Amino acid sequence: MANDQDRMERIVSLAKRRGFIFPSSEIYGGINGFWDYGPLGVELKRNIKDAWWRDLVTNRDDIVGLDAAIIMNPKVWEASGHVGGFTDPMVDCKACNSRFRGDQVTVLALHFIPRGGPKGRASEDCYFSAVGSEDDVRAKHRKRIEKLQRSHPDQPGGWNPKHEVHALSWIRNPEAYAKVHCPDCDQVGTLTSPRAFNLMFETYAGAMQDSSSKVYLRPETAQGIFANYKNVLDTTRLKIPFGIAQIGKAFRNEINPRNYTFRSREFEMMEIEFFCRQSEADKWYEYWRDARFQWYVGLGLKGERLRLRDHKPDELAHYAKACADIEYAFPFGTSELEGIANRTDFDLTRHQEASGRDMTYFDDETKERFIPYVIEPSGGVDRAALAFLAEAYDEDEAPDEKGKMRKRTVLRLHPRLAPIKVAVFPLVRKDGMPEKARAIWAACREHIATFYDEKGAVGRRYRRQDEAGTPFCVTVDGQTNEDGTVTIRDRDTMKQERIAAEAVLSYVRDHLHL
Ligand code: GAP
Repeated sequence: MANDQDRMERIVSLAKRRGFIFPSSEIYGGINGFWDYGPLGVELKRNIKDAWWRDLVTNRDDIVGLDAAIIMNPKVWEASGHVGGFTDPMVDCKACNSRFRGDQVTVLALHFIPRGGPKGRASEDCYFSAVGSEDDVRAKHRKRIEKLQRSHPDQPGGWNPKHEVHALSWIRNPEAYAKVHCPDCDQVGTLTSPRAFNLMFETYAGAMQDSSSKVYLRPETAQGIFANYKNVLDTTRLKIPFGIAQIGKAFRNEINPRNYTFRSREFEMMEIEFFCRQSEADKWYEYWRDARFQWYVGLGLKGERLRLRDHKPDELAHYAKACADIEYAFPFGTSELEGIANRTDFDLTRHQEASGRDMTYFDDETKERFIPYVIEPSGGVDRAALAFLAEAYDEDEAPDEKGKMRKRTVLRLHPRLAPIKVAVFPLVRKDGMPEKARAIWAACREHIATFYDEKGAVGRRYRRQDEAGTPFCVTVDGQTNEDGTVTIRDRDTMKQERIAAEAVLSYVRDHLHL
């Protein structure tokens, strides 16, 4: 298939065309950083969340669930450090009013090598910038760089791209900063110095709109868990180590939402806070790093596209002792899917200090009292959905109605994630076929997501289901009237076999290992 950008465009186009993902409020021109999930997308997301909940809550005896409010007492966010420190560096262009995340503006410095050799001091420098990687900068400014090279033919080496620096480093160098091109309007010297920008959305609770009624939309679900840790402990018989799991919306006023749904302003998180003894925190950290990695592999993300990356000490969040990211090679680059952090006893200690409530755990066997350490696997539902879509997207060839080979787009989604598990068709709308097909549909849909379709040529119906990621299609045809059998077609191999109409449900269940 074509290059990664092209692949990404095809995935976005399929997601729109088939009702997975729509731009939010599209009829009014959309709104940056917000997305809506259509009929297939909502099922995909539900299946991801169900798989997570089943594997991590229902099928374990040491993790329980929680559903906390999105808006909490603002003191929660003061204690957690979000009011003071949940910021990104923001840079504005004074000319075009574009806004960038300082750490995402990549600057390419081109140094002119003067006559006399590379050791001489650069007589001229030129700085180009773009939001993204060094390749993005080069691609955006390719023509300009080539022109510069052509205009200095007499210089050995001409203009040499020597190195790339990130915004945060060049911003400390006023000389370079004055020469930087705005990534959007290309004017030089128009960017402001970076300022800390708090990512929390603010609103007001109640009729008064003043500082006393200011509240925040939660930027992570984790704090709802910490605030309820004692309630959960007091109402269950959980003993350490144990976890509290939550799935829910989170909001961040991202400076530069981008890469489709990857960085949105409203998104869903799946988080576990796993409480343990300090002496066992390293062990549980290792456990969750591996368990979470394997979860994605088990649902179809290939090992070679996934990697575990340990944070360097200067990357760690203020609360974390250790952190690893599970990263996926998206078509737009390798980026974080989920983070696993050792949050130590930071959050519970802060909440104990700020609220005055006792956050200790009492071990009635050892008679010890302590604030537990916390290991946190924290993933995004939308990023997982995007990774599963990107992994599943494929193009191959399949025969059309006349037996001619034509391009086919197929989503090879893991059966647990597929929005529809089986589609049922009558070959034609006569000879009792629709009635028989509807009977199969009715028998299956009580147990698994089943779709009925009788419109259009059957080849086209297969293709629509391939694009939706449906693992099996069942067709009632002329032979069904004679011997009670139907064809069942496999999405990935496109092979068909005949089975008894009554056996469809058990066949699909056996083959999908749901
Ligand atoms: N409680 C820990 C925490 O909030 P995080 O790394 O900031 O950690 C966790 O976020 C996960 O949430 C990320 O790995 C990612 O999957 C998802 N996430 C974060 N910001 C996001 C955004 N703007 N859009 C979509 N998903 C996001």
